[in-house]
Amino acid sequence: MIRLHNMCSLLLIAMATMLMASVHAAEVMILPSGQTVFVTLYRDNILRLKVQPTAGDFYRVTDVVVADKEAADKLKVSCATATSCLVEAAKASMTVTGHDLDSDTAHLIVEYRTGGVVSTISKVPVAPQFKDAPELTTTFPTAKKLFGLPQHAMDLALKEDVTYQLYNLDVFHYKLDDPGGIYGSIPFLMAHSSQHTTGVLFLNSAEMNVRILKSQEEANGAPGAHWKAEVGIVDVFFLGGANPSQVHEMHAYITGKAYLPPMFSLGYHQCRWNYRSTDDCLDVDAGFDQHNIPYDVLWLDIEHTDGKKYFTWDLHNFPEPTKLINSIAAKGRKMVTIKDPHIKRENGYHVHDEATSKGFYVKTESGSDYEGHCWPGTSSWIDFHNKDARDWYATLFKHDRYGGSTPDLYTWIDMNEPSVFNSHQVTMDRNAVHRSASGKQVKHRYLHNMYGYLHTMAAFQGHLLSSAGAAAVKRPFILTRSFFSGSQRYSAMWTGDNMAKWDHLEKSLPMLLSLSLANYPFVGADCGGFFFNPEAELMVRWIQAGIFYPFFRAHAHLETKRREPWLFGEDSTSRIRAAIAIRYSMLPYLYTTFFQTHALGTTVIRPLFYEFPAEENLFSEQNTYMFGPSLLVSPIVREGEAFHMVRFPSGAFWYDWFTGKKMESGTDTNIAVTMDTIPIYTRGGSIIPTKQRLRRSSAAMVHDPLTLYVSLDERGNSYGELYTDDEDTYNFESGAFLHRALSFSAGRLTCRAAPTAYTPKDRTKTFQSDVYVERVVIFGLSKEPRRIAATSANVGGNAADGVATATELTWSKVHDAIVVRQPKTQIAADWDIVIEF
Ligand code: GLC
Repeated sequence: MIRLHNMCSLLLIAMATMLMASVHAAEVMILPSGQTVFVTLYRDNILRLKVQPTAGDFYRVTDVVVADKEAADKLKVSCATATSCLVEAAKASMTVTGHDLDSDTAHLIVEYRTGGVVSTISKVPVAPQFKDAPELTTTFPTAKKLFGLPQHAMDLALKEDVTYQLYNLDVFHYKLDDPGGIYGSIPFLMAHSSQHTTGVLFLNSAEMNVRILKSQEEANGAPGAHWKAEVGIVDVFFLGGANPSQVHEMHAYITGKAYLPPMFSLGYHQCRWNYRSTDDCLDVDAGFDQHNIPYDVLWLDIEHTDGKKYFTWDLHNFPEPTKLINSIAAKGRKMVTIKDPHIKRENGYHVHDEATSKGFYVKTESGSDYEGHCWPGTSSWIDFHNKDARDWYATLFKHDRYGGSTPDLYTWIDMNEPSVFNSHQVTMDRNAVHRSASGKQVKHRYLHNMYGYLHTMAAFQGHLLSSAGAAAVKRPFILTRSFFSGSQRYSAMWTGDNMAKWDHLEKSLPMLLSLSLANYPFVGADCGGFFFNPEAELMVRWIQAGIFYPFFRAHAHLETKRREPWLFGEDSTSRIRAAIAIRYSMLPYLYTTFFQTHALGTTVIRPLFYEFPAEENLFSEQNTYMFGPSLLVSPIVREGEAFHMVRFPSGAFWYDWFTGKKMESGTDTNIAVTMDTIPIYTRGGSIIPTKQRLRRSSAAMVHDPLTLYVSLDERGNSYGELYTDDEDTYNFESGAFLHRALSFSAGRLTCRAAPTAYTPKDRTKTFQSDVYVERVVIFGLSKEPRRIAATSANVGGNAADGVATATELTWSKVHDAIVVRQPKTQIAADWDIVIEF
């Protein structure tokens, strides 16, 4: 039976009626089951397949896909037979073939090719019985390993014959190596081989179960996955690239690049459930200064509120919140308060009164407010699916509505899976009812996995609103526990309630790497472990590992012993100080990496295979990884280690961060370790900007001079970038930033404008910086220098004149490094430092 139409008229009608104006259908198939199949080119090498009912009610994920402009003009569609169409784009093609379209077992075979290689073969059942439980099987004929599908407390590489559940749940004492769903999910998978990487994003926010196939028995030896969502439609993106970073960038193109966080949020965060009073907070704050340990943010958990009513204060313990925040802010630090999505049902509580009168709570099927138990007792949940409810929620953050708040107060949103203590699976009834602003209803089961994401959107909007009218709009900082595809545009996340146990520390690394691969760069885990009490060794090792989490916060359960960094004995205090000092020294590099993530759609921490895609023996490595593009780190996550194995890819030179000693590339090296050891190595070919003066917070470092780490590759070259701006506002979007390229070649280190891939919205603002370079550390010079000199406008010379007008510099050999002192070259200026041998 002919069921596939490639007639122009049908295409045009379908385009006009079924799709938003900006979306172009390449081909439309109407199936006997009444479903419509759309195949669209999203961008070069990104193809999208959508199967949805032709008419009637259906739920499609909205607000997650950022760019709906599709390059339809590059598409060529040809249908060889009535049931087989070939969709060709510049570099990608997709063959969609319908099988048994009028039978009960009807399905489509979708073959996706990039660069002539078959990347995925998918089987999509489309018979009537699959209409509301969409599923597909994808196999990856050329791939070796599969990754992704966060969040699970599991290893990085996905395991065969395991069903990974994507269902956002608050799981008490979550177990390691358990494929059941926890707090957040991203339905994205990456299939990788040394020549090729493919991504699949199945955009559906219902409960989803993804079983990794037994490759030998089920997929001719190739890796594969069977995806099944509870309800909704098939809406799948296929992303084909030469390597993981290309696919990552495509993924970021679809669901959005990560937002650029304010600098302070990359510092160290001190949290516990709970800092109990103003005095407690001030004592902790003073403790950091007494012990000379930098930190940026002090956090308040649920007990700071009046009876767990968010946006209020317990005025007995926190009588003057504004004064408290201001005294912390006077040291350049910030505070965070928690705001959960459950609202105490108490008359007179403004949030409850307004949500009730405006009808902004999630409802039951009979139309009453959905009720359940959470921290405050009987509560209802804000319907963040409703844009009007989000707009209203955002107003709660305005300083004139949120008494006691100031612009230095930021937000933690938690329990937003949502967690409902007295309900099945500790979450919202799947039949609870959400509404859109236009009044259209949808059952909770369709959008369950998006609830936390929608909460984050509303909180983000709230911060922007509270900052509106200020001289410059400040970038929000929000931490969320629940998330979905797209959350990276609004917030950081953390891995929830882990335990003060060594295996939880160890597992945090693959958990965060998996999130990073799935386009969620700003991620962290509770340092120290949430439940139970860490011994000094575990606490020290956790902080030493946490400095390489993109989001770096210590947190603890209400019933644990106090564990501020100076409570584990003097030796531990100094080790913690040393580790946190390293984090702070790397902030210029980390901030630059976050900027690249925001500008280019890359990520922050990366598994080794992301940077070295051809090194097959490293594909599953999850303990040694890259912190940004240029640093290899290998946190010590096992108790009592005397030797620690670090894996050095063969694709680069590696140097010890502390000594400049060259390591052996392409080896697994056992290094002797003590409690002071933090394994960090620079990548040959990179230049890393740092600030080495120990301060009390990131704000105190703004004017500090830089130390550049120049690590040479096999040709004696290296390259790096420095991005800097006001660290706080959106002025960078109007051109108020500096983006500098540092490169070293033939003995000459230069600083010039970076070939930026970031285009600001306008150029109405500029950024001035007085930051200069106070030290250059060079790793890998084969000969000792004879003379080193700097030329630049601000040291009395002109770069163009070469060394003739140069300022002589002093230098010394320290361990295996050459350390050049006080070139005093301004980072905003063009300059050269020339080494003569
Ligand atoms: C949840 C959070 C935890 C928080 C606690 C009290 O368990 O995951 O971080 O401290 O609630 O708000």
